[in-house]
Amino acid sequence: MDITTNTVFIAGGTSGLGLGLARRLREAGSTVIIGGRRADRLKTLAEENPGLGTVEIDVTDDASVARARDQVLAQYPDLSAVITMSGIMIAEDLRDPGHFRITRDTVETNLLGTVRVVDAFTPYLLGRGAGTIMTVTSGIAYVPFPLTPAYGITKAGIHSYTESLRAQLAGTGVEVVELIPPLVATELMGPGQLEDPNAMPLQDFVEESVGLMAQQPTPREITVERVKAQRHAVADGTYDQILTRLSGALAAFGH
Ligand SMILES: NC(=O)c1ccc[n+]([C@@H]2O[C@H](COP(=O)([O-])OP(=O)(O)OC[C@H]3O[C@@H](n4cnc5c(N)ncnc54)[C@H](OP(=O)(O)O)[C@@H]3O)[C@@H](O)[C@H]2O)c1
Repeated sequence: MDITTNTVFIAGGTSGLGLGLARRLREAGSTVIIGGRRADRLKTLAEENPGLGTVEIDVTDDASVARARDQVLAQYPDLSAVITMSGIMIAEDLRDPGHFRITRDTVETNLLGTVRVVDAFTPYLLGRGAGTIMTVTSGIAYVPFPLTPAYGITKAGIHSYTESLRAQLAGTGVEVVELIPPLVATELMGPGQLEDPNAMPLQDFVEESVGLMAQQPTPREITVERVKAQRHAVADGTYDQILTRLSGALAAFGH
């Protein structure tokens, strides 16, 4: 994708990977609009980054998504790319049925939120006859992290959905890309994740990903080196080994 002239809306751009990508794409020449629920944070980011577009959006709410879409398209009639970055990741103990609340919230945000945002912009992009839809999964879509079962459900689901979306939009001029991050130092699971020695530094992830996004044609999957082992675990015959390693985190629940 052309990262120098695009107009990109990033739902879930108020922190972490979304904000990192927003900053890097702007540096490259793109116009960027970020969305999220935290109005105060959007206001501060707009003040700190003149020219950065902001919009309030809650991807769990149909009306909020429709409002945000209308606002973005009214202000940016050249919108050419949408990135569905919004997500949450919460530990769940499946021995306690009380976990279900987390499952529901995670599916509502990560999986249904992705579909809601894509649905909101697809008619516009099809009418335009060109553009990019980028969904966001995770290495966890390919080998689950047993500490966060619902998160894995949603990321595997978004992968499957993305494959279908790409097949259905083939020939329309709208490309469908899946961003597959590894563990990256953000606050997705709380401030402790920033200090995790196994997490890829945010700036390194952003640089490598944007380098891949800029390739022509855009790869169907944006897969940095760090996530390749997990992405290709089944094909490589390393699935059981990686799952065993990731299961080590269950010690947090006394397993
Ligand atoms: N960091 C990693 O290790 C990693 C690895 C693989 C995949 N990912 C994926 O990358 C994406 C971004 O995560 P991150 O690591 O950058 O974490 P983050 O800093 O916590 O960012 C999450 C973003 O999602 C937004 N969000 C959450 N709920 C929302 C809702 N209901 N409506 C609208 N926006 C919502 C947040 O904005 P507001 O709070 O302002 O609404 C924020 O901008 C997620 O999809 C995550 O699954 C991250």
